[in-house]
Amino acid sequence: MGPRDIRRARSSVRARIARERPVVERVPATMPIPAGQAGHRRHPAIEVLQVSKTYELGQISVCALRDVSLLIERGDFVAIMGSSGSGKSTLMNILGCLDVPTSGRYLIDGMDARQLDEDELSDLRNRKIGFVFQSFNLVPRTSAIANVELPLAYAGLGRGDRRRRAEAALDSMGMADRLHHEPSELSGGQQQRVAVARAIVTNPTLILADEPTGNLDSRSTEDVLRIFARLNQQGRTVVLITHEPDVAEQAKRVVRLSDGKVTEDRRLRGLNEPPPLVLSQKSAHRQAGEGVAEART
Ligand SMILES: Nc1ncnc2c1ncn2[C@@H]1O[C@H](COP(=O)(O)OP(=O)(O)OP(=O)(O)O)[C@@H](O)[C@H]1O
Ligand SMILES: [Mg+2]
Repeated sequence: MGPRDIRRARSSVRARIARERPVVERVPATMPIPAGQAGHRRHPAIEVLQVSKTYELGQISVCALRDVSLLIERGDFVAIMGSSGSGKSTLMNILGCLDVPTSGRYLIDGMDARQLDEDELSDLRNRKIGFVFQSFNLVPRTSAIANVELPLAYAGLGRGDRRRRAEAALDSMGMADRLHHEPSELSGGQQQRVAVARAIVTNPTLILADEPTGNLDSRSTEDVLRIFARLNQQGRTVVLITHEPDVAEQAKRVVRLSDGKVTEDRRLRGLNEPPPLVLSQKSAHRQAGEGVAEART
């Protein structure tokens, strides 16, 4: 795929999206983006252009993604749905630059992931992307605060700065009173909130979450969704994989994969609309205070 093919694929995807999108959606995003991280504003946050992914296992090859094209604008909140094995995690790994397509192109902030070397890729993952996983992936026998400090250590921040920022991130997740607890001393919902704190501590513009509520009860699911809604309201792009329709309903757009193909791309609300779980400042404060005090002590 040369530059001309990329331009052609881009414009055909754009034309399709323009056709499918209601007029109100065509207004450019005006959401604030974290200071100093606006990226190349001309480009969408994510451009997946005719991406296929085939895994070769000896004699067998598994086609996990087939000619997937997907554009995600800055500030969107996208839920990716689809049955088990439909290619959701494969797509997420490509979006997070953890894996590369077999064919097609992936551009993040207008940069072709294929043209970045390993150092640039890890820098990009560390600075721009926050990952959240179903199984939390916290480092065992390590305190919440040390877990959250980890990406800052990779980024080369000094000890004092690391501590301050990790504390602030945990505080914003309602976890200020659990800084020194190890993962095994925390509930599932609390562990996931530590994982979200770790994902956002570097102030990334893109949050990628693979079934973040898959192991949570309904109360913790709502807590975590409210956090994602808030992050999105602050201008971050959120892409979340889920099996649960009521979780997907909290997003602004739902993309369904089936057997490695996009079979549905439905907009639930405008790019500039707040996600439904965003509360007014005052009630958010009250809710956080009450919820945390009640549920976490
Ligand atoms: N590393 C791998 N090697 C070989 N095949 C793989 C690999 N990872 C995924 N696959 C295959 O690719 C297909 C898509 O897998 P993927 O993990 O993306 O599905 P998923 O939609 O995330 O499913 P789930 O909902 O169960 O997590 C599956 O058929 C899977 O077996
Ligand atoms: Mg998966």
